[in-house]
Amino acid sequence: MRAFEIKKDVYWVGAVDWDIRDFHGYKTPRGTTYNSYLICDEKTVLVDTVKSCKYEEMLKRIKTVIDPSEIDILIVNHVEMDHSGSLPLIAEECPKAEIITSPNGLKGLEAHYDLKNEIKTVKTGDRVKIGINEVNFVLIPMVHWPDSMVSYLPARKLLLSNDAFGQHIATSRVLSDDHSLGILFEEAAKYYANIVLPYSSQVRKAMEVVKGLDIDMIAPSHGVVWQEGLDEILRLYDGWSSGKTEKEALIVYDTMWGTTARMAGEIGEVFEKKGFSISRADLKNTHISDVMLKALTAEYIAVGSPTLNREVMPTVSAFLSYMRGLRPINKKTLPFGSYGWSGESVGLIEETFKKCGTEMLKKKRVRYRLSEEKARELKEQLSEEIDQLEKAE
Ligand code: FEO
Repeated sequence: MRAFEIKKDVYWVGAVDWDIRDFHGYKTPRGTTYNSYLICDEKTVLVDTVKSCKYEEMLKRIKTVIDPSEIDILIVNHVEMDHSGSLPLIAEECPKAEIITSPNGLKGLEAHYDLKNEIKTVKTGDRVKIGINEVNFVLIPMVHWPDSMVSYLPARKLLLSNDAFGQHIATSRVLSDDHSLGILFEEAAKYYANIVLPYSSQVRKAMEVVKGLDIDMIAPSHGVVWQEGLDEILRLYDGWSSGKTEKEALIVYDTMWGTTARMAGEIGEVFEKKGFSISRADLKNTHISDVMLKALTAEYIAVGSPTLNREVMPTVSAFLSYMRGLRPINKKTLPFGSYGWSGESVGLIEETFKKCGTEMLKKKRVRYRLSEEKARELKEQLSEEIDQLEKAE
């Protein structure tokens, strides 16, 4: 176990979770890290902690730099337990350390723990001098909890951004410079799509503040520290939070006897002919958190299901519920599916899209079997409707 100096006298002392594959429903095939940072100045400051089960790992890393009893300040940027879980344990090592958090952070800490340390709250613009360094605080409520805030060290041009700009990647190489940037951007996009997306309007406000800071490094609470690729991740966050889409169509479905899958194929052909790049996801084989990665920048999202017991298929129901909660912005949608007799599924998908407030193409339903004639009709109608929608813009 070692600490890694990311900037002069600022150390990564976090923990690597190599084996986690499910982060409350979000599939994490590359694992993750919980990042904690130690600032050694006239005062010693620990910014965020790690999941409680990883406490010993964080403690060992801290001990390679200082004796934990020397910690003067514990900053809590966010109370969610992957970052505050080890706070009560480390606080016992430094009972005189002051805890600093946001006003909502205080409420969260009181609800979760019986801490004995003194707790001070800060608001945006507050600063704490710790020696050569001064820690500035910016509250970013709902990015992604009410308590969320970031800490900024102007003398080091370093933003400790907590969950913002995170990626779920387990690695012992702390800096982005030592990674393939393509993988980092993809994991950052998946993280945004599955965690940050519903709070995009709050991200916009936070981005305005971040743009005003002089920074050359962003150290989030998951994954790698951005140094290489910093400008690009800021540009990507700008696009994701403003609902910028690419010429992409995502077709998501489940199927019972193959008709809805064949409809997905025909729909894909129509979009492809119009120059869209296509993603297809059969929900039996693709996890909803991976589908959301594709949904993030797709201009069109088509969702299909046959009718099963007057409902959509359970996989489609789970996806619709998940997507509705994540509130993707600036999407055009298409409900489709097959049926035998009652045929409620496509109407139910349509209702969900209405609740999401998306622009919608006319729903497409096929009874039993997609004959060549029905496939031709479907493609002709859809092609015309897409043209009309595109022209109307
Ligand atoms: Fe990584 Fe919101 O906790």
